[in-house]
Amino acid sequence: MNMNDKQMLYILQHMIENPYMGVLYIDTSCQVILVNQTFADILEVNRESLIGKHVNEVIPRSRLPYTILNGETNLCELCCVNHKEMVSMRVPIYNDGEIVGAMAKTLFLDMGAAQIMVQHMTSLLDSTPVQKHGKYYGKYTLNDIVGNSQNIVRIKSLCARVANNISNVLIIGESGTGKELFAHAIHNSGYRRNKPFVRINCACIPENLLESELFGYEEGSFTGARKGGKIGKIELAYGGTIFLDEIGELPLMMQAKLLSFLQEREFERIGGNELIQSDVRVIAATNTNLAEAIAQGNFREDLYYRLNVVSILLPPLKNRLEDIEILVNHFIGKLNQKLGTVIEGVDEESFSLLKSYDWPGNIRELENLIERAINLASLDGQKIIQAQYFPTLQPGGFLNRPLKLSLNQAIEDLEYHMIRETLKKNNYNKAATARSLDIHPSVLYRKLKKYEVI
Ligand SMILES: Nc1ncnc2c1ncn2[C@@H]1O[C@H](COP(=O)(O)OP(=O)(O)OP(=O)(O)O)[C@@H](O)[C@H]1O
Ligand SMILES: [Mg+2]
Repeated sequence: MNMNDKQMLYILQHMIENPYMGVLYIDTSCQVILVNQTFADILEVNRESLIGKHVNEVIPRSRLPYTILNGETNLCELCCVNHKEMVSMRVPIYNDGEIVGAMAKTLFLDMGAAQIMVQHMTSLLDSTPVQKHGKYYGKYTLNDIVGNSQNIVRIKSLCARVANNISNVLIIGESGTGKELFAHAIHNSGYRRNKPFVRINCACIPENLLESELFGYEEGSFTGARKGGKIGKIELAYGGTIFLDEIGELPLMMQAKLLSFLQEREFERIGGNELIQSDVRVIAATNTNLAEAIAQGNFREDLYYRLNVVSILLPPLKNRLEDIEILVNHFIGKLNQKLGTVIEGVDEESFSLLKSYDWPGNIRELENLIERAINLASLDGQKIIQAQYFPTLQPGGFLNRPLKLSLNQAIEDLEYHMIRETLKKNNYNKAATARSLDIHPSVLYRKLKKYEVI
């Protein structure tokens, strides 16, 4: 059925003029452009008198200006309007990737109704299996992924669209671009959200243990096998998602086994003779160039096509510098809570410094630098982070050590330097870096964490 503009307008008007929810819309100068009668009733003022006023004149403590300022979104927040407690949401409105306004909408006009909903949800969640999965659950949602750049907005909407199907997903991106975050978010956006989310890092597990980690084994199937056997990660993820991280490092022998599993959706435990059916969604991630690995004979082309049904290419941070500001503010808020600090922001000079850096460690590196800067600025009693608190971004800047080093500090500096340089030479591929440095990938991971390199 086709609708003409008039019918459409009529429906929209009636959707907005709804006695069960208050709606208020502001433009980029925070002036009220549209408000429905319900909202005016909450405020106990004449509706027309609200138009053109600054939102904080109407609702003194409204955070809607932050939605205009940096896209801050809150899908469920407690607020107090005209001495009335209620639950509302606020979201930015975009046009061509730019914020053009912001909308506030009430979800519950009174706390009684909200409480009934909370009770209902609590009993529902209590009966869902999510709590039984221990550490195996999706930790992030699409709301945790910050960024307004066109690419990120487009990728988030793609994730929401594919969340409910079973197609395999391949997430490609440099280290620290958020591959893990997106994998969790896809899982949590679909009907599998209450089932396990199980991650396996293909680069960190020794080749001879990978098969049993993935598929499990029966009792007595090899020397050292655990009594009673062991369930593999694929079985553990039943009904949910298995996240195959660093898939480019999967040894060829295991690639063949994984391919056969993906084709048949069934497998056998090592030493077992029973075919186990599996209902699991596969999300794989890589920061290596798989096309190159295929050309060199290190990655099976057929497996690549099997995995790459939905392909998500995460841009490096240097290609979306417009997100720096919103990311910095997001991390300051998050880290203030974690560290108990009261930093309010960064100054203009810092922003230009942050925007002129090439971010090899991407968002993880940004988060680490902000954490260090918050600590340094707080020690000096500052509330605004100045450029001097980003010593590693200053020309010639590094760990900012005092000149007189202990032997241990000198060794650490050398190790830090070598790891950074080798990473750079290997295009931030951690497995190749570990090989170049002649250390096991898990040792490299530990050191990367220690030095907060990426
Ligand atoms: N868009 C984003 N918004 C907020 N935080 C982000 C975003 N992207 C990444 N992060 C943060 O950056 C850090 C790195 O993200 P993540 O672990 O998902 O990266 P990755 O691509 O898996 O990196 P690696 O290849 O090194 O494993 C995490 O702390 C994550 O919370
Ligand atoms: Mg990762």
